[in-house]
Amino acid sequence: MSDAVLVTGAFGLVGSATVRRLAESGRRVVATDLDTPANRKATAKLPTGIEVRWADLTDPAQAQLLVSDIAPESIIHLAAIIAPPIYRNPKLARRVNVDATATLVRLAEAQPAPPRFVHASSNAVFGARNPHRTTPPLTVDDPMRPCDVYSGQKAEGEEIVRSSDLDWVVLRFGGVLSTDLSALPFSSDALFFESALPTDGRLQTVDVRDVAWACAAATTADVVGEILLIAGDDSHHLRQGDVGPSLAEAVGVPGALPPGRLGDPDSDEDWFVTDWMDTTRAQEALQFQHYSWPDMLAEIRAQAGWKRYPGRLIAPLAREVMKRRGAYWKQPGRYADPWGAIRREMGDPAWDRPRDRP
Ligand SMILES: NC(=O)c1ccc[n+]([C@@H]2O[C@H](COP(=O)([O-])OP(=O)(O)OC[C@H]3O[C@@H](n4cnc5c(N)ncnc54)[C@H](O)[C@@H]3O)[C@@H](O)[C@H]2O)c1
Repeated sequence: MSDAVLVTGAFGLVGSATVRRLAESGRRVVATDLDTPANRKATAKLPTGIEVRWADLTDPAQAQLLVSDIAPESIIHLAAIIAPPIYRNPKLARRVNVDATATLVRLAEAQPAPPRFVHASSNAVFGARNPHRTTPPLTVDDPMRPCDVYSGQKAEGEEIVRSSDLDWVVLRFGGVLSTDLSALPFSSDALFFESALPTDGRLQTVDVRDVAWACAAATTADVVGEILLIAGDDSHHLRQGDVGPSLAEAVGVPGALPPGRLGDPDSDEDWFVTDWMDTTRAQEALQFQHYSWPDMLAEIRAQAGWKRYPGRLIAPLAREVMKRRGAYWKQPGRYADPWGAIRREMGDPAWDRPRDRP
């Protein structure tokens, strides 16, 4: 066995920060991801000393070569296809989120010295959360109730890891955000998706640097066999409708996001798969919470700097455009219908449950 930490999905949002955190703490890191022009370009921003291996984890031969060559001491498995892109390509997502996770777990088990396996899961596995009928916070003792393709595939991936012979740790993340202006969720799909979610749904955000800290710490802390809930401190207890407008204000386009719709108080299904979580045990074991929500917003404001001032002028126009592009423009009804909106714009969000498959 080498002393390397193998990070999959290493050029993604969480992966890039995790590679940086591991490098800062003097660990030997092997970063792996898909060989794409964007990822090749991103190697220029890596801290020095990081080894990069390109591999498509849906190809078992490439995964095998990677694991046997590196013989890592631990694997932090972050490679995935997440929401909202998953709704446009659920079949490919299954190959990554479920099948490639199984491949990686089997390869790790077959190593002469099997690595610790730190697995990225999500608060989504708890399913849709109507805030009128449920009481926060979620704890690890709450059951998994996956209800869409993302929460379903994340639950399946988690179960593969938990039933393995490995020394595993499962980290269920809340809503991961970055203060890096280029990583803010302002793509057209991300904006449509956010406009579809009930504004009064609960969401616990977390700074990506804190998630990275948790991932790195989980490779050595005394947490084997535990499921840990990874989200920010209490200042990150937000409502869905608070997040976009606060970010828009911080970058300098206050009011650019029109108000969305409230969720249906009488429906158990028409809510998104997020909620506040009890992070006490995770924080005790990993000491990862360093950035509050107000800290994040202040950092974004400082980074946006002078660009915030002209932003104010375009905000009213941006709001008109966003209104027309929003999920409920000219749609009947009063409450949010997130799954219906996702189905209309991106694809069927239904989870192809294992028992329904041939
Ligand atoms: N972002 C969030 O808010 C959030 C919340 C909860 C859980 N998570 C989980 O955290 C993990 C990381 O999420 P992220 O936000 O960094 O996602 P991301 O989309 O930014 O990164 C995922 C990475 O996986 C890589 N990948 C995809 N298919 C691959 C393949 N076939 N082979 C190799 N690599 C492949 C992508 O290239 C990408 O770099 C995921 O497991 C996700 O489910 C994320």
